Amino acid sequence: MKSRGGVWAAVLALMWWCSGAVAEVATCSGLVPMVYRSDKISITDYGAVGDGKTLNTKAFREAIYRIEHLRRRGGTLLYIPAGVYLTDSFNLTSRMTLYLAKGAVIKATQDTTNWPLIAPLPSYGRGRERPGGRYMSFIHGDGLHDVIITGENGTIDGQGDVWWNMWRQRTLQFTRPNLVEFKDSRGIIISNVIFKNSPFWNIHPVYCSNVVIRYVTILAPSDSPNTDGIDPDSSSHVCIEDSYISTGDDLVAVKSGWDQYGIAYGRPSNDITIRRITGSSPFAGIAVGSETSGGVTNVLAEHITLSNTGIGIHLKTNIGRGGIIRNITISNVFMENIRKGIKIAGDVGDHPDENYDPNALPIMKHIRIKNIWGEKVLEAGLVKGLKNSPFTDICLANVHLFGSSGSRHGPWTCSDVSGGSVEVSPSPCSELISSSQTGACSIPF
Ligand SMILES: *[C@@H]1O[C@H](CO)[C@@H](O)[C@H](O)[C@H]1NC(C)=O
Ligand SMILES: *[C@@H]1O[C@H](CO)[C@@H](O)[C@H](O)[C@H]1NC(C)=O
Repeated sequence: MKSRGGVWAAVLALMWWCSGAVAEVATCSGLVPMVYRSDKISITDYGAVGDGKTLNTKAFREAIYRIEHLRRRGGTLLYIPAGVYLTDSFNLTSRMTLYLAKGAVIKATQDTTNWPLIAPLPSYGRGRERPGGRYMSFIHGDGLHDVIITGENGTIDGQGDVWWNMWRQRTLQFTRPNLVEFKDSRGIIISNVIFKNSPFWNIHPVYCSNVVIRYVTILAPSDSPNTDGIDPDSSSHVCIEDSYISTGDDLVAVKSGWDQYGIAYGRPSNDITIRRITGSSPFAGIAVGSETSGGVTNVLAEHITLSNTGIGIHLKTNIGRGGIIRNITISNVFMENIRKGIKIAGDVGDHPDENYDPNALPIMKHIRIKNIWGEKVLEAGLVKGLKNSPFTDICLANVHLFGSSGSRHGPWTCSDVSGGSVEVSPSPCSELISSSQTGACSIPF
């Protein structure tokens, strides 16, 4: 086992080295131009005190009001110097850069009583975890364009434990706030920032286009509830790369609305690139779903390194969701110490209410999973389609998932699925039989 693993690791390493040596390294650069802003203001000019105790809400709101209304040519950079700046939630504006210097921390207040409430997202019909409205994200952008959050790896700290405890004690009145949300926005860059202890999902672009997220670090304890890393939701042309994410829920999850509300809103997520992400999660490393009612098309996730994770790759949907999930390619994933390597399932996640349409069956097709190497993987894979909507053209190539020596290694289990496989070990279920014999898998690997 050891020597076979060693040989394969060498082959894989050579393959990666060759692909890197031949092709230029792909990056998100160019999707959204990084603009230089000559007009600069500092949060301290607005009376902010970075002592970790003074509440700086007024300073943030006034500084951003100034950027919005003076409308300097080329936009304005808001500089946050070293220090800990406690504040309530605040809104960004278009054509601004929020720049966190080295040692700068923007810290969310833990006083949740006056936290602003906003309307539920139309594609969800209600808050994701509680009926009605939802708490506004700590840093919020609605209807914006040309916004950059960057700097020298300063920190945005959600101080989420008060919110996690409300969730645990079932005293939450409304859905918890995201750390950063952009809604109906375009031309967004988030880079070189550390995100810490989000109350709920960390970074949530929803109804957005042209979003770049790179060189970020996202941290939350593994037992913090629903602290997803990055959730592109009903958004297109989103590129996420070169980041480390370790949280209490999925590291990256592509979504597009929830059951009848998401179907009615009809806004898909498409053209999403995820590359060079490293991290750990008790849930999924790379996920699509389970809220996918607007559909999810053209996702590429590659060069992903996962350790101590629940499910390496998780494509998930449910009856009542509707939506088409198609053209998903996941390649060059290394995973270690994983509960389940690959899971593709049609019975995951709850419903917003009892009025979902049980005949709104999701479609899952054209899925490519290739060049996957797993060690200490407890269970190789599960692919569970729906009886009345089987998953089709699910293709696996060069997928090798090993158990830990001495422990029992669960095989593949499948139902209501068709597709093919090439070079998969342990050998997959009969539904995904070798494509060299059947010619399955319509798109070549
Ligand atoms: C922030 O944006 C939200 C959503 O657009 C809006 O409801 C709220 O009034 C804004 N808050 C401030 C202080 O401008
Ligand atoms: C910030 O962190 C990224 C990794 O996320 C690293 O590549 C970069 O060099 C760091 N920048 C600074 C100024 O420390």
